[in-house]
Amino acid sequence: MTTARRLSLLVEHDRELRACTRCPGMGKPVVTGGPVLSDVMLIGQAPGDKEPKLGRPFAWTAGKQLFKWFASIGLDEEAFRRRVYMAAVCRCFPGKNPKGGDRVPDDEEIAACRPWIEREIAILQPRLLLPVGKLAIAEVLGESPLADVVGSVKRITRDGRRIDVIALPHPSGASTWHRTEPGKTLLGEALERIARHPAWRALVAAEARAAAAPTFSMQP
Ligand code: URA
Repeated sequence: MTTARRLSLLVEHDRELRACTRCPGMGKPVVTGGPVLSDVMLIGQAPGDKEPKLGRPFAWTAGKQLFKWFASIGLDEEAFRRRVYMAAVCRCFPGKNPKGGDRVPDDEEIAACRPWIEREIAILQPRLLLPVGKLAIAEVLGESPLADVVGSVKRITRDGRRIDVIALPHPSGASTWHRTEPGKTLLGEALERIARHPAWRALVAAEARAAAAPTFSMQP
């Protein structure tokens, strides 16, 4: 498939995704990161209450932490949003949990949203997947304790293609996992593995080339 064809499929996909009404219990609007054709795909959990208003995933406190991690390995927030496709297990705000925090999407909502991720993988054919947090990790690798999967490169096969998976903990301030051992060390190892991955290095190099390219302005 040509790049132009994949991009037009992704633009159409994003349009359909934004119009999704599959889950009656979910808040609207649908949150997407837009049609970024990339070899690297991030999968978050679900947007919080701020993301629908701000119109992009990871737009609030968890995002600040997440983008600090990625900035430490070469892509700041704006570069990351330009270069990486941002998906999620669920694309709508699930509402608040009466006991505090955001409601975790239920199995039916996760199943309803799953075909969007499957289609994204089919269109993008990513080389590197970055599931963020337990729910996203379970979606890609099956239920696994964080300490068993964070810090190493896992491999899955989709549509006959090999995809590397580097799992990250959820950056939410409510979680202490990534700030205490062994989480702190495992997070550092995961970030190092992302930094060394050829698909990530290609994005960092593309950003550096774009920054070095001459810019032209119209003369009066
Ligand atoms: N957590 C997520 O997984 N996604 C968001 O967009 C915000 C917080």
